[in-house]
Amino acid sequence: MKTKITELFGIEHPIIQGGMHHVGFAELAAAVSNAGGLGTITGLTQGTPEKLANEIARCKEMTDKPFAVNLTFLPSLTAPDYPGLIKEIIDAGVPVVETAGRNPAEYLPALKEAGIKVIHKCTSVRHSIKAQSIGCDAVSVDGFECGGHPGEDDIPNFILLPRAAEELEIPFVASGGMADGRSLVAAMALGAEGMNMGTRFIATQDAPVHQNVKEAIVNATELDTRLIMRSLTNTERVLNNEAVERLMEKEKRLGDDLKFEDILDEVAGVYPKIMHEGTMEAGAWSCGMVAGLVNDIPTVQDLINNIMSQADEIIKSRLQNF
Ligand SMILES: Cc1cc2nc3c(=O)[nH]c(=O)nc-3n(C[C@H](O)[C@H](O)[C@H](O)COP(=O)(O)O)c2cc1C
Repeated sequence: MKTKITELFGIEHPIIQGGMHHVGFAELAAAVSNAGGLGTITGLTQGTPEKLANEIARCKEMTDKPFAVNLTFLPSLTAPDYPGLIKEIIDAGVPVVETAGRNPAEYLPALKEAGIKVIHKCTSVRHSIKAQSIGCDAVSVDGFECGGHPGEDDIPNFILLPRAAEELEIPFVASGGMADGRSLVAAMALGAEGMNMGTRFIATQDAPVHQNVKEAIVNATELDTRLIMRSLTNTERVLNNEAVERLMEKEKRLGDDLKFEDILDEVAGVYPKIMHEGTMEAGAWSCGMVAGLVNDIPTVQDLINNIMSQADEIIKSRLQNF
């Protein structure tokens, strides 16, 4: 399938794997790229520029296809070395960067000068327009359904995507709630040029996370995610568990007085315990409502093949028969 997104990134299928903390390692990024999509290494997870350089080198050993690095700009206790990370991305010749969080304008000139394509992930039409105006090549429009940080507007993709299509000139992909060929065709019908997936890619054989995480997604329904940290204007969609219930109880009790320090036990440094050790109650971890559509743990290659053949079937058969 040829779209503006496949052309822009030099990939075969319009399917992107979004950056995911402690999930987006070389194994997953390479598997997605080898299957014809665009895989993404999560920059901040690596910790230091040297470790990111090492992860990029590992990914290059596993694939000769294009892949991306995600740079997330979120409030954090200690600011990451963004210039150092960007230098390694440029030196390694990574062709695409996915930015997320706040406006990436400060870092855009260096990336653009190096010929890197930038796709900015944002949760609103106004931020998408901003991304276009500062020179981003594409946007990933992340609807309210998404795992991770859906922003504070709560606009689901059935509204957000056509609104983005009305306003944008640069191509965009649909993100949040995407799982299969139905999602891809629907996203394209609403004006997107492809789709970005997070949660669905975790429940694959190639994702380098503990089996418990994959099974938690398979066992979850669309009713099992919760929104946390709203009062801190840092809303995150996570899978419900004991830690999340404890956190929400604190939110209820403290209301607007809640501070980040009050919930450190539930959110700080919990990702390695969950993703690598499989201690599922260790804290809150991002997960999308789309978990309700995830019922298996295929290889990334099979997942992407199935998405493309299902999309083909819908376009050529189901839609033609009406
Ligand atoms: C476990 C997990 C970790 C994530 N970490 C990041 C991250 O570090 N940076 C980022 O930009 N997005 C992150 N995301 C968001 C994804 O890249 C993607 O936008 C989102 O998962 C799309 O929604 P979906 O889960 O419904 O597919 C994360 C998502 C998940 C599920």
